[in-house]
Amino acid sequence: MTQQLLLGQTVQFTHDPFFGNPEDAAQINTRGGVLIEDGRIVAVGNGDDLRRTHPQARVTDHRDGLITAGFVDAHMHYPQTAMIASWGKRLIDWLNTYTFPEEMRFADRAYADDIAGRTLDLALAHGTTTQASFCTIHPTSVDAFFEAATARGMAVVGGKTCMDRNAPDGLRDTAQTAYDDSKALLEKWHGRGRITYAITPRFSPTSAPDQLAALGALWTEHPDALMQTHLSEQLDEIAWVRDLFPDARDYLDTYETFGLLGDRGLYGHAIHLEPRELDRLAEVGAAVVHCPTSNTFIGSGLFDLPGIKARGIRTGLATDTGGGSSFSMLRTMAAAYEIAQLRGTALHPAQLMWLATEGSAQALLMGGEIGSLNIGAAADIAVLDLASTPAISQRSARADTVWEALFPTIMMGDDRAIKAVYVAGVAV
Ligand code: GUN
Ligand code: ZN
Repeated sequence: MTQQLLLGQTVQFTHDPFFGNPEDAAQINTRGGVLIEDGRIVAVGNGDDLRRTHPQARVTDHRDGLITAGFVDAHMHYPQTAMIASWGKRLIDWLNTYTFPEEMRFADRAYADDIAGRTLDLALAHGTTTQASFCTIHPTSVDAFFEAATARGMAVVGGKTCMDRNAPDGLRDTAQTAYDDSKALLEKWHGRGRITYAITPRFSPTSAPDQLAALGALWTEHPDALMQTHLSEQLDEIAWVRDLFPDARDYLDTYETFGLLGDRGLYGHAIHLEPRELDRLAEVGAAVVHCPTSNTFIGSGLFDLPGIKARGIRTGLATDTGGGSSFSMLRTMAAAYEIAQLRGTALHPAQLMWLATEGSAQALLMGGEIGSLNIGAAADIAVLDLASTPAISQRSARADTVWEALFPTIMMGDDRAIKAVYVAGVAV
């Protein structure tokens, strides 16, 4: 039973910093320590005290490094890694021009393996220890992602993306095959090691009512699975949904009618919501996922984070790569900050860090397991260098508080700021 002690500056949240003074929501220990045993956090506190009480522990001293929970990316598309930063289109044209042709390539299992491994390695290099990913319609794309995650010991969420209309030949399933394939994958993977299965209708424009109903039925049979999809990302998309579902009260209703609204549901983007949709999301306890770099890159709109949080709706943060323009959750926090500024609110660095860790973990209903330095959580940890570039270093040198020292890394940092990453206590 070997113990491992990480020393550095620790940030441990005690509650959600969107309620009350953000700085009261975290305990900061500038000479902190995290004690790890069997892949889990068993103690957090003063580093010198922990060293004294656990003399047998193997010590890694990260000095001024900021020890935080690894980042949790609550919505992304691993099959879009190789086409990130594709120029000049808005959502529907972007899907048709760049995304669907790329996703077609995942019929080739070797290609899927290559991109799955590449994506998870990029995530780890950026301090992200958990991703919730859409796969493609090919069941083997799900196997590729889960096998690559298992090989790296990572807790991930994924699911076969289902589409039976408004997608090209070769990228459509049917209501029946979507149900059968999703069910087989769910039964094979859900709860195996650190894998969580999410039933994954891409969005209602690409699923006919029969397919949405089949996936709703599958969720009823497996209520412990997650369900992930997209909601109200762009105005043109919403108008299209209105044409495709003339009887629906709104976009969310196209999911609710078919049994695809619930507290284990994750709704990506959720920018242009009607009052009824906001009420229903709050009532059922569903989660929304903020994808700020994607929302500016594809030109989708300004997510109302303060408004959503004030309603008590669980909210995660995500890169949404390849619609998102960065693999970095630091860059994603910066974009969330900028979007909130455009809406008149300055988010505190504590709020941004919480969103990228505990907030996303809670959105995935994995709080307690990932996204925190709390005792009992998996030791999925990132250590940040708060002086990773000359520009950042000269600014953080002037800081009076840890939050002030961290903020330039949030705004200007990238993978160079990631000093170390641990997955279930193992350095990667
Ligand atoms: N809506 C439906 N599919 C997608 C996708 O792949 N990316 C984004 N950003 N929005 C979508
Ligand atoms: Zn997405």
